[in-house]
Amino acid sequence: MNERTRVGVLGSGLMGSGIAQVAAAAGHDTIVRDVSPPILDKAKAAIEKSLAKLVEKGKLQTTDRDATLQRLSFTTVTADLRDCDIVVEAVPEDLEVKNALWKELDGVCGAGTIFASNTSSLTIAAMAAATKRADRFVGLHFFNPVPLMPLVEVVRTVTTSEETFKRAFAFARSLGKEPVAAKDNSGFIVNLLLVPYLLDAIRALEHGVGSVTDIDKAMQLGCGYPMGPLTLLDFVGLDTTYRIAEIMFAEYKEQRYAAPPLLKRMVLAGMYGRKSGKGFYDYSANPPVVSSLGL
Ligand code: CAA
Ligand code: NAD
Repeated sequence: MNERTRVGVLGSGLMGSGIAQVAAAAGHDTIVRDVSPPILDKAKAAIEKSLAKLVEKGKLQTTDRDATLQRLSFTTVTADLRDCDIVVEAVPEDLEVKNALWKELDGVCGAGTIFASNTSSLTIAAMAAATKRADRFVGLHFFNPVPLMPLVEVVRTVTTSEETFKRAFAFARSLGKEPVAAKDNSGFIVNLLLVPYLLDAIRALEHGVGSVTDIDKAMQLGCGYPMGPLTLLDFVGLDTTYRIAEIMFAEYKEQRYAAPPLLKRMVLAGMYGRKSGKGFYDYSANPPVVSSLGL
């Protein structure tokens, strides 16, 4: 990757806004695509809030904050990403939605553009096959919250060229992240291990092993985890977790990836966690209180 890379980001939700922020902060011109101006306004506000926190903590100079914001632009038109050197996709965990975008972009981007998906659980092969650039397709799996979590999994599928893999690895490093190489198996390294743990925490709640707060407290204080699993589920998004579980269960047919009924009920009720204001906890209260789940 060049010193100054033109980066495109598809999706400006939890992950896309964070990826765009770290790309722009690293000095790359970054253009973010989402479906509507109000959604993009929300993403811009989230980025400004995150940068403000970093300034407040003395981790970022105000001049660097301003330069970061200047390097960011926003659009609702996919074709505006045509001149990018790399496009990182962070739209919902749905193969059809992702592949519709990849097909559209494949027709407008130059031969040199690398396509990278931030998918949590889909295989990179399933997206690469929808394009004519399967050799220039890679996984770049970031972690939430992107500005704070150092890891990026760089995923090579069967068709990824060595050059693409190396460029993607260097790009992750250029963002100040610590890349690890992972094989293109559903869930890569982290979610292969993390997802069963999160789903088991919901099963423990369903079985009455402990209350919401006690399950969280137990894992925080007993294992030194920064967040309890139910808090982390609210943080990741229950809608996203449900989709991940469905995809991983379909891939492996193993019970540990099956979505617990309570997760499905909560998603049906629009309880997506922090992003919708309510999940295992109700975020309309300060501090948040445990939601009533009819258990
Ligand atoms: N941008 C900038 N600063 C931020 C921020 C953001 N987005 N989010 C939090 N901060 C700041 C806070 O303001 C806070 O600053 P102060 O210390 O000055 O108050 C600091 O970071 C620490 O935050 P908190 O005190 O709120 O909480 P914390 O010390 O517990 O740290 C955390 C927050 C880093 C998120 C930590 O709780 C943590 O590591 N949690 C686990 C996260 C995790 O597991 N992520 C992976 C999810 S799975 C995934 O991403 C993969 C997938 O495919 C689903
Ligand atoms: P999110 O729901 O917060 O954001 C998705 C964004 O994509 C929304 O802003 C939505 O408007 C936008 N979008 C929908 N259709 C679009 C389209 N056709 N073009 C452009 N934008 C479109 O989701 P998220 O949590 O940011 O997850 C995004 C991806 O990142 C998923 O594949 C998810 O599995 C993965 N991921 C999530 C996490 C996490 O902790 N939430 C961590 C790592 C990876």
